[in-house]
Formats: sequence, structure tokens, C-alpha cells
Amino acid sequence: MTDSAARSQSALSASTGPSRTSQVVALTRAQFVRPSSPDGDPAAQACWCTGMAPLRSSPLRDHLEARTIFMDRQVVEAIRRGTTQVVVLGAGYDDRAVRFRVPGVRFFELDHPTTQADKRRRLTESDGDASAITLAPIDFRHGGAADVLGGCGHQRDLPTLFICEGLLVYLQQDTIVSLLSGLRARAARGSALASSLAVHPEGVDSDVVVEMANTGRVDGTSEPWLTILAASAHLDLVARTGWSVEQCVDDVELVASAVPDRSLLIAARPG
Ligand SMILES: C[S@@+](CC[C@H](N)C(=O)[O-])C[C@H]1O[C@@H](n2cnc3c(N)ncnc32)[C@H](O)[C@@H]1O
Repeated sequence: MTDSAARSQSALSASTGPSRTSQVVALTRAQFVRPSSPDGDPAAQACWCTGMAPLRSSPLRDHLEARTIFMDRQVVEAIRRGTTQVVVLGAGYDDRAVRFRVPGVRFFELDHPTTQADKRRRLTESDGDASAITLAPIDFRHGGAADVLGGCGHQRDLPTLFICEGLLVYLQQDTIVSLLSGLRARAARGSALASSLAVHPEGVDSDVVVEMANTGRVDGTSEPWLTILAASAHLDLVARTGWSVEQCVDDVELVASAVPDRSLLIAARPG
């Protein structure tokens, strides 16, 4: 068994509750000033965080801010173009379904069953209008995202915005390839993919980077990072799945205090 396979396996047994990393993202994101739609609920993110263990620190705050700016723009732009389906992979406590609520637009959110059960409870308790969200449980390690989408009402003949924010770093490379290929198979003309990619400078050993990164993380055992690649290798990986990258920005281009060469944000079209 390789080191990263062992890490993935040990995470299986270590992680039994809702995703803590997605709670950290939600708690951090609740502090940002963000746009919303006229029918949207900008207070939902903070409301859903009620009772979560408080943040001790958020060393990735600048990167989360850059990601949030980029993904919010992708959602707003897609809805402006007339896209009526948004699929959020590894959604965690993502609030865009209610923040950018627009009549006729449906959000499909895929994540681990335990995280989704916790989100469902928070949605119910918050008493807001969550009618535009479809929650679908999945473990991406076992494949089947395309089938899950087909089974929960996603229409493959309509354009979709697919979002993988802060997700691919938690998946093995073969899982990333099968996930993005499956999404490509359900991407009608006019669809788009928006994703963050964890990267490191060229010429560095990716396995060493992953090992060192997890050693320094509070959640490095329960939710280990598995894929951090040089930018060129990561973009090649995405291209192999049938997506054509049209926009690629480093986090530092959106938030000047972010660390450069650490995270890319891409927008892609079906190739
Ligand atoms: C860092 S959080 C990001 C959450 C959300 N995208 C956001 O930006 O707020 C990573 C999310 O990916 C989910 N995830 C990681 N590996 C997964 C897997 N194998 N199957 C399903 N979900 C997974 C976690 O449960 C978690 O909600």
C-alpha cells in the first residue's frame, strides 16, 4: 500500500463525524462580506455555524477568501448566463444555494452522508427556505457521482455549473480523474466546471509536499490532503478528463496576502 493510499485508508476509520474542515471553511466564510441575489439569504452561512466548535485560527484564511471570491463570481455569472443547475461536489456547509437563490435554479450538493445529515439538520433548524437544494450522499472514493446525479433529478441535457471547491486535494488522483470524467459525461453544451487545485512550485517532490503539509495540519489524520501537484501536472490531470481550462488564476491575484504558487482557481468548459 502506498503512503497516500494508507493515509486515505486511515482517514476512513478516523473520520466518523461531520467534516471538520468544511466547518472551518464555513466559520471562516461567515466572516466575509459577500454578494447575494435579491431573493437570497446572506445570513444563512453564519446561522448554519451555530454550535460548531469555534475557530482556533484559520491559517488558510487568505486562500479561503480568494476561493470564495472566485466561486461566488462563477455562480453569479452562470446564473446570469441562464444556467439553471449548479452541482456542488464536496459541498460541506456551502451556502450558495440560499445566498444566490433565484427562482428556477436548482442546487445539487454531494458530500459524505454524515456531513450531509448534519447540514440537513441545520437547514431544518434554521427554518429558512431550502427548497432549491437537493442533498445527495456519496463517497467519491467509490465512484458513481454521475449515477448519483442522474438519480436525484439532475438533467444531463441542461447546462450545469459544477463546483469542486476545496475538494480535489482530499482525493487520490485516480478518484479525481474518474470524478471529473463522470461530470464531463453529464455536462451539456454551455456547462462549466469551477475548481480549486492545490499546487506546489515546479521541481519539488509532490509526495514530500503532501507528507509535510499533513504533518502541520490539525486535521491531517482525519481528513488528509492527498493530491498536491505542480501546476502543470495538475492542469494536465484536469485536461485528461475532457475539460478545457479557459481561466486559471493564482489565489494571490485575488487576495494579495495569499501565498503564491499554492492554490489555483480554474474555470473550464467541456472540451
Ligand atoms: C474543505 S471541505 C470544503 C467544503 C466546501 N466545498 C466549501 O468550500 O465550503 C471538503 C469537503 O469535501 C468532502 N469530501 C472529502 N472527501 C470526500 C469523499 N471521498 N466523498 C465525499 N465527500 C468528500 C468533505 O466531507 C468536506 O465537506
